[in-house]
Amino acid sequence: MTLAQPHGGVLVTNVIPSDERASFLKELSNAPAVVLDPRELSDMVLLSQGALSPLTGFMEEETYHSVIDRMRLPNGLLFPLPVVLSIPEPLYRSVRKGDLLALKSPKGETVGGIWVSSLFEREIEKEASSVYHTRDEAHPGVHYLRKVSSFAVGGTVRALESFETDPFRPQQLTPEESRRFFSQKGWNTVVGFQTRNPIHRAHEYIQKCALELVDGLFIHPLVGETKEDDVPATVRMDCYKALLSRYYPKDRVVLGVFPGSMRYAGPREALFHALIRKNYGCTHFIVGRDHAGVGSYYGPFEAHDLLKRFDFEDLGIVPIFFDTAYFCRLCGGMASHKTCGHGEDSRILLSGTKVRALLREGIAPPPEMTRPEVAEILIRHYTNRSNEDERVA
Ligand code: ADX
Repeated sequence: MTLAQPHGGVLVTNVIPSDERASFLKELSNAPAVVLDPRELSDMVLLSQGALSPLTGFMEEETYHSVIDRMRLPNGLLFPLPVVLSIPEPLYRSVRKGDLLALKSPKGETVGGIWVSSLFEREIEKEASSVYHTRDEAHPGVHYLRKVSSFAVGGTVRALESFETDPFRPQQLTPEESRRFFSQKGWNTVVGFQTRNPIHRAHEYIQKCALELVDGLFIHPLVGETKEDDVPATVRMDCYKALLSRYYPKDRVVLGVFPGSMRYAGPREALFHALIRKNYGCTHFIVGRDHAGVGSYYGPFEAHDLLKRFDFEDLGIVPIFFDTAYFCRLCGGMASHKTCGHGEDSRILLSGTKVRALLREGIAPPPEMTRPEVAEILIRHYTNRSNEDERVA
């Protein structure tokens, strides 16, 4: 086996060459501007680096419909999530195909431009039902959809080489960089691990089980926008660093960051996460319990069911599926219902809500669930936060 082919066969980066930068900036300064929201900005980062290969920009109308209706690009390639640029209605009314729009970060920095080749109205309710399987406003993805303008433009983008002072850039491995890194290591098989939560023992267990099967493990925490009550990426990264130095083999594991935003689209997002990790060179991808889920909108193994519908020809990456992992007192170690025949009363398993309540009170959860090094960082985060909340209140 060799490193995975990029999705669609070619890594497509969308950055303006340095010798065209000055003239591009001049063109952008005369173009109407669109301020991207955090999700659109992170999509722009992904597009610029080739993480969304084979996309060359924000989706056109035909692609948008093809993706929400059948999870495929018009050419048949699997692509389960829409990547859309919404713009305000007055601008939409004045833009014509062929126009260049300047794209700005929420802080006002110019990040690149889009050549408009399609103008369309987003079908918000249909998008909600197909992508998120719900129209409930309490779902963070649906909430986002109801907030954005339904007027959209699609077209090729070009990004300026380094935009937005990104606190995570030094730890980021772009798809080109991760591919180079894996090759230098001599890894032929690499398993990718997506996460948006602080690392716990079940994560560690499934990562290490997967690593038993392949040459390298690419831990790839998502650092784009997440919902308010998720733990901030900086804190999660501290947890990873604390654990990696003590419990992981140095020469088989690499920590990067994934600059995308969470959609909480459950099964579709699991498929998306798997496909785009091919762009980083991963040959395998971990899909555990309720991947990219939120609340109880998706069944715990709905993502497994969706990915199992496709063969390698379609996916181009091997999903490694995991059942719910937990610590079993009678086994004396981590297990899942696949490997342990003991009853539920032998499991050390607390709900996320209970764990957060403990941490807020400065109490470490059982070490069988959370390593003490991680608990310490999380307690600091949660207790500082409740002090701040009290000050604000
Ligand atoms: S996610 O939104 O990025 O999927 P999270 O960081 O919680 O959330 O999960 C990262 C990966 O670990 C996902 O593949 C998820 O399914 C898996 N996972 C999380 N907890 C468990 C668990 N207890 N047992 C098995 N898999 C798990």
